[in-house]
Amino acid sequence: MLTRIDLQKMKQANEKMSMITAYDYPGAKLAQEAGIDMILVGDSLGMVMLGYDSTVQVTVADMIHHAKAVKRGADKTFVVVDMPFMSYHISLEDSLRNAQNIFQETNAQAIKIEGASPEILLLTKRLTDAGIPVVAHIGLTPQSVNVLGGFKVQGKDQETGVKLLEDARNLEEHGAIAVVLECVPMELAEIVTGKLGIPTIGIGAGPHCDGQVLVYHDIIQYGVDRLPKFVKSYADSNKTIKQAIRAYREDVKQQQFPTEQYSFKIKNKEFLPKG
Ligand code: KIV
Ligand code: NA
Repeated sequence: MLTRIDLQKMKQANEKMSMITAYDYPGAKLAQEAGIDMILVGDSLGMVMLGYDSTVQVTVADMIHHAKAVKRGADKTFVVVDMPFMSYHISLEDSLRNAQNIFQETNAQAIKIEGASPEILLLTKRLTDAGIPVVAHIGLTPQSVNVLGGFKVQGKDQETGVKLLEDARNLEEHGAIAVVLECVPMELAEIVTGKLGIPTIGIGAGPHCDGQVLVYHDIIQYGVDRLPKFVKSYADSNKTIKQAIRAYREDVKQQQFPTEQYSFKIKNKEFLPKG
């Protein structure tokens, strides 16, 4: 299993980190077998697994439920678990307790929180001091989509660009082990990556980040119909799975399945009930 020290070394060696989300046992198992460096149990599970239209309905219980399954499937992989909407905003004490629950119950390697407000910086420090590694997440922060006014690229003007760099530096200073940069111009992500000692992990943030993360269901096109611009798709599972299910359905209707090959037989017919 990678450690935060390995992540640091990878950044220094300019060895890119691959990260993918996973939300259940089979997904995590396949990701680990494919040799992925890190898994994120993202609260994007609300959308791709549960069918909500944003991440704000996801609960701490949902995250724990899914992260436990992921850890069972990927016991040798560095797993990061998202803290869901409003689970780290009510009070410092409440936030620490939620993080403790998620971290202890799931056996994950780190938790991830969105934002860089003074409260988030303090929480990052307190969690780090307590022994819970924190991955930060800035740029487009989907839990704030209703405040940001949509899923839009962040840091496009001078003011917000400077702010993003400052946020990233503050997060590093308060102990974050890595920073996810979501939907920021590639030139800005390059600067932030160069200025930070900790790794940046980009999603829609160009090629200069230290690592990349994408959503599982997006890269294999599984149950999602529309892909954001920054997603490269590597398989069409929608097509493959629908073909398989259709073929099965057809076989059942046409009485092509099950044949004897897929059935059990009794040796002694005497044993069969009469009448
Ligand atoms: O929830 C998620 O999937 C995420 C990543 C896309 C960074 O937070
Ligand atoms: Na997330």
